[in-house]
Amino acid sequence: MSLQRLRDPGMVVFLSGAGISAESGIPTFRGPEGYWTVGAREYHPQELATFHAFSQMPEEVWAWYLYRRSVCQAAQPNAGHSLLADLEQLLGERFLLVTQNVDGLHLRAGNSREKTYEVHGNIDYYRCAVNCCTEHWPLSQGFEDFAKGQKASAEQLAQLRCPRCQAWARPHVLWFDECYDEVTYRYESSRGAARQAVALVSVGTSGVTNLPLQMGRMVAGRGALLVDINPESNPFSQLAQESGGVWLRGKASQGLAQVMQVLKG
Ligand code: APR
Repeated sequence: MSLQRLRDPGMVVFLSGAGISAESGIPTFRGPEGYWTVGAREYHPQELATFHAFSQMPEEVWAWYLYRRSVCQAAQPNAGHSLLADLEQLLGERFLLVTQNVDGLHLRAGNSREKTYEVHGNIDYYRCAVNCCTEHWPLSQGFEDFAKGQKASAEQLAQLRCPRCQAWARPHVLWFDECYDEVTYRYESSRGAARQAVALVSVGTSGVTNLPLQMGRMVAGRGALLVDINPESNPFSQLAQESGGVWLRGKASQGLAQVMQVLKG
């Protein structure tokens, strides 16, 4: 069975999306919980998660992110996250995790920062909104338990400033009207990994974003192994099937358990 090709020498890249955190109860971005009301208007996440929206109404955009961060903090890593942490231990230098998730659950489950590329950022961090520097900082205590609709207080707003230049700070996440780059989002490093990997295992992603899809195409295009774990058909499951790879149709935790079994031998 071609899943055995995971045992070939070389790097195995895991690419995760919102589906892996579904088992932790984090609602997907595009689901009904994603909507946000400002005044009399309902905003879709694709409108709010933009630099444009932030530049027009920073306090509202921050309120939305602080609420979402509270949801992420209340969630616990699940069996799928734990398996990825175990896979890092097992594979060592052969392991890399590229995640689109900003919820930080991979790091909380035990994956190392060094081996975890958070290509859409991390909601626990903030950075300068006018790019005076490339640093990002953890949000300090006092921003926990934001209820839906709750806005930051005046004292809290005073902390949402760049520590270097005092301009607005912004959530450390990639917005829909922005591009990937290497310094902030490990764009070139992720593409480089896809060029080298002996296998790519995508798990819980709908394949709508640019970098992950590029990575899947690069791997499948040069005949390396593409494994997709997802209960639903998606561009990765199609690419896997077309290129002699494997679609493990099911939940993230189940598929990763199969991958672990093969790799442990
Ligand atoms: N196990 C595995 N996959 C699952 C599970 C599960 N238990 N539950 C749902 N899925 C799958 C869905 O079938 C879907 O294909 O997870 C995928 C989730 O898709 P999206 O919500 O579109 O998430 P993602 O692919 O991570 O989105 C990419 O787009 O919204 C932006 O920046 C945001 O990082 C996000 C990016």
